[in-house]
Amino acid sequence: MSVHAARPVPLPLIEGDAFSGTHVPLIERYLDRLPFAPGDKLVSLQEGSTPLLRAPVVSEMVGARVRLKLEGANPTGSFKDRGMTCAVSAAVREGAKAVICASTGNTAASAAAYAARAGVTCAVIVPEGKIAQGKMAQILVHGARVISLQGNFDQALALVRELTATHPIVLVNSVNEFRIEGQKTAAFEIHEALEGGLDALCIPVGNAGNITSYWRGFREMGAAPRLLGFQAAGAAPLVEGTRVEHPETIASAIRIGNPVRWEDAMAAARDSRGAIRAVSDAEILSAYRLLASREGIFCEPASAASIAGLLKYGSEGAEQIVCVLTGRGLKDPETAIANNDGKTIQCAAERDALEEAVLGDP
Ligand code: F0G
Repeated sequence: MSVHAARPVPLPLIEGDAFSGTHVPLIERYLDRLPFAPGDKLVSLQEGSTPLLRAPVVSEMVGARVRLKLEGANPTGSFKDRGMTCAVSAAVREGAKAVICASTGNTAASAAAYAARAGVTCAVIVPEGKIAQGKMAQILVHGARVISLQGNFDQALALVRELTATHPIVLVNSVNEFRIEGQKTAAFEIHEALEGGLDALCIPVGNAGNITSYWRGFREMGAAPRLLGFQAAGAAPLVEGTRVEHPETIASAIRIGNPVRWEDAMAAARDSRGAIRAVSDAEILSAYRLLASREGIFCEPASAASIAGLLKYGSEGAEQIVCVLTGRGLKDPETAIANNDGKTIQCAAERDALEEAVLGDP
């Protein structure tokens, strides 16, 4: 069967919403491959169907055809929306009134948005002082309850798992199978777009849910690209083979020392003949600036780990490569303002001064 085989015309599962082209809610687009049935009430913000953009500069640097999967184009600005439409739709189907998660920011922003859409309450546990401002703004404006934990992500997740064992609140971290199911659809999109021609996928790894999802997605398509996962060097338990008690990295989204999908991630790397490796904060920031200044793509620091890894280890014979850019740059304005190649020139409000500021030596 061609990977381009026409899909059935999407069912109007969400009354009143109008969709065009491939912009249908993710669950409708892949209804036949997800644990939902026609007639299920869905909670969607029209996620998925994200761009797969050529990266000419990076391609030239590594001598391969490199594309970027722009997951920051999802409604809340990260790949989490693919999993969250499924997790929240399933929770609502089961009659849940509240959802909860531990998060380094993006899962929380996504949960808060989908909970608002669904009319259920949402609580998020975040490591105090360690989540980027854009994410905090999202969580607050969607009206979630923010619990700022005096601890790190790993402690937050352990505690929230205990709490949900005794309270009827649905946990929407990637321990929730619906999250993995939803996120596997990114692999479907890439497989379809490249007609099965992908050799290697570069992806940042934190809690390890996403690499698990991609591997499941590719397997379901009968494909087996090499999965190359990248952790930040200060938070690289899968590379070191042991938990990291005090993870540290500028890429706050992947500041995780004890990934919940540890075994699944190792299996994905092994079974795909891939690897999980580390990149330093300096390498992450350099890739981050390169993407923004040369490719015109502003992603968040954690996302740049995929490019940093590709540049560090090379294409290793792969001809077609996709780097997953998991979240958009506006999520983390502090890091952007502190690390860039731009220039601000102060200028008096008069013509000559402006001329000098614009045309003079920098
Ligand atoms: N990139 C971004 C931007 C993320 O937010 C995350 C995870 C990852 C990569 C890693 O994905 O955990 O599936 O391996 N963020 C989680 C959160 C932990 O709470 O938002 P993973």
